[in-house]
Amino acid sequence: MGPDAASAVDAGAYLERWAARAEEELGRRVPERGAEPAEMYRIMRYSLFAGGKRLRPVLCAAGAEAVGADPEIVLPAACALECIHTYSLVHDDLPAMDDDDLRRGVPTSHKVHGEGAAILAGDGLLTLAFGLMADGEMARRAGPERVIEGVRMLAGAAGASGMVGGQLLDIRAGGKVSGPRELEEIHRRKTGAMIRCSVCLGGLLGGGSQEAMAALARYGERAGLAFQIVDDILNVEGSPEQLGKAAGSDAAHGKATYPALHGLEASKRLAREACEEALAALSPLPGGGPALAALARFIVLRRS
Ligand code: IPE
Ligand code: IPE
Ligand code: MG
Ligand code: MG
Repeated sequence: MGPDAASAVDAGAYLERWAARAEEELGRRVPERGAEPAEMYRIMRYSLFAGGKRLRPVLCAAGAEAVGADPEIVLPAACALECIHTYSLVHDDLPAMDDDDLRRGVPTSHKVHGEGAAILAGDGLLTLAFGLMADGEMARRAGPERVIEGVRMLAGAAGASGMVGGQLLDIRAGGKVSGPRELEEIHRRKTGAMIRCSVCLGGLLGGGSQEAMAALARYGERAGLAFQIVDDILNVEGSPEQLGKAAGSDAAHGKATYPALHGLEASKRLAREACEEALAALSPLPGGGPALAALARFIVLRRS
């Protein structure tokens, strides 16, 4: 485990605090009233404010804090990450993809608004994310060069080489993967890339050194893998009430997952190992990144 100071941060309280700040900011950027067409914003808000954990914005805040910056500086980027993540969920649930009916404890967007509108809500959220990255105050405080690098980083994580490409590998693989390496690659792209990017974007816009950025990248990569392994485990062990989304669906659809390939106990061990690797990666950071350490532990212990 990491340094003693790491246990000083309560992951629950930290998540609550920065999730609330990100939500306030998202509420201003995707308003209930005053933005037109009102129905478009209403459909985007339906998925955005259905009660996600806000892990990616919180990791972004913790990444900034780990390099000694005020997380307030990176809030527009934190919101951009949540917009892209929410769009990925809306599209992931579509009949053409996982065909799921429940998300964040409510019926999926396409079930309520129809497929066309759900696709467009996802498109709106994705586009908004890059508008948020162009926030003038963030550019002033973080510096325009760092923001440009951040846009490149976010596009890489969200796009064809990252989440979108991982989603393609996932739907193409079905239940058949050649082995552990292929499954890890799917997980690394479809989920890990955005988690890694969340931490790195916080560090980059917070003014982190090259050494700090390398530590954050390693942390994010291992925490991202742990996150998706746990998502696979919860699909086996959790209930829809607890998860706010379907349980048992991976096995029912014959999906390639960690429990399907390695078994449940080995999957739990692999998630713990990835978490340990994430914690070990924090040692070069001044102060040891206590909030990131607490969040890595939360990722493997979470039940939803
Ligand atoms: C679920 O992500 C989808 C994956 C990438 C595994 P989260 O578990 O972070 O979902 P929310 O944001 O809390 O709804
Ligand atoms: C979702 O992966 C990854 C995304 C990029 C949205 P899954 O399909 O395994 O996640 P859940 O279980 O539906 O949240
Ligand atoms: Mg999927
Ligand atoms: Mg899914």
